[in-house]
Amino acid sequence: MSIDRTLTTDREEAVTEEVLASFDATPDPRLREIMHSLVEHLHAFARDVRLSEREWEVAIGFLTRAGHITDQRRQEFILLSDVLGLSMLTIAINEPREPGATESTVFGPFFVDTAPEVPLGGDIARGAAGIPCYVSGQVRSVTGVPIEGARIEVWEADEDGFYDVQYPDGRSAGRGWLRSGHDGEYRFRSILPAPYPIPHDGPVGDLLAATARGPMRPAHLHFMVTAPGYRTLITHIFVAGDPYLDSDAVFGVKQNLVVDVVSHDAVDPTPDGTRSERGWTSIDFDLVLAAHDGS
Ligand code: BEZ
Ligand code: FE
Repeated sequence: MSIDRTLTTDREEAVTEEVLASFDATPDPRLREIMHSLVEHLHAFARDVRLSEREWEVAIGFLTRAGHITDQRRQEFILLSDVLGLSMLTIAINEPREPGATESTVFGPFFVDTAPEVPLGGDIARGAAGIPCYVSGQVRSVTGVPIEGARIEVWEADEDGFYDVQYPDGRSAGRGWLRSGHDGEYRFRSILPAPYPIPHDGPVGDLLAATARGPMRPAHLHFMVTAPGYRTLITHIFVAGDPYLDSDAVFGVKQNLVVDVVSHDAVDPTPDGTRSERGWTSIDFDLVLAAHDGS
């Protein structure tokens, strides 16, 4: 190693040591651990890529734009976490260890906590465009105990790939919540989900374009299931055969969340007796909740 290189390395290490030491007196031991590790990894990253001052400025500009586009309705930092796989990594780290529980995936930005209640067997599409899809299954524990009265929130995009909140007219469609019945059974009418792009008109979209990555998510139906004594389940089901299953922009696909959709002819009677000229579809999927204590 040349003398100059030794000098540079010494200077770099001195900065890292000084910053690490600045967090030594952090009273909360967990915060101290996190800040130490963050500084170590952040500095190692900058050294690894030999970060230029111009690149540092570009990164600051990127974060500034992410801040400016973020408001009550748009959260660009979560989107950034999603496309970097940090959201799914955090979910994997915190997944319950109970084998057999339905796996979790990303929450996404389109949940609304004021969706209407629908009765068991009711319609959550509520006018959203798409081929009818009747979804049913059972909410149960990993040991097979039916869970009655679980609150099941469902939300989805329409066949054009838009959630209701993405339309300017204030509509509420493609979302609702219901309770599981006596044997944990649930059923509702919805529409067959379609693939759609994540919001890509901001800095995260620019990052995807600059790295030759696409913004598409495979077709899916979101669920959030809560029941006393059980861990809240946030997940989606994905449609088998979707062309984007292997390239989800936010890495949310898990094999056991991919479900077969059964197609039915228009002449076949639907579960609720309504008719659909375009035919209809059905999905059967059990929602298996992990107990709170992980047992
Ligand atoms: C969604 O599925 O709604 C979603 C998830 C992550 C980022 C953007 C959208
Ligand atoms: Fe979604």
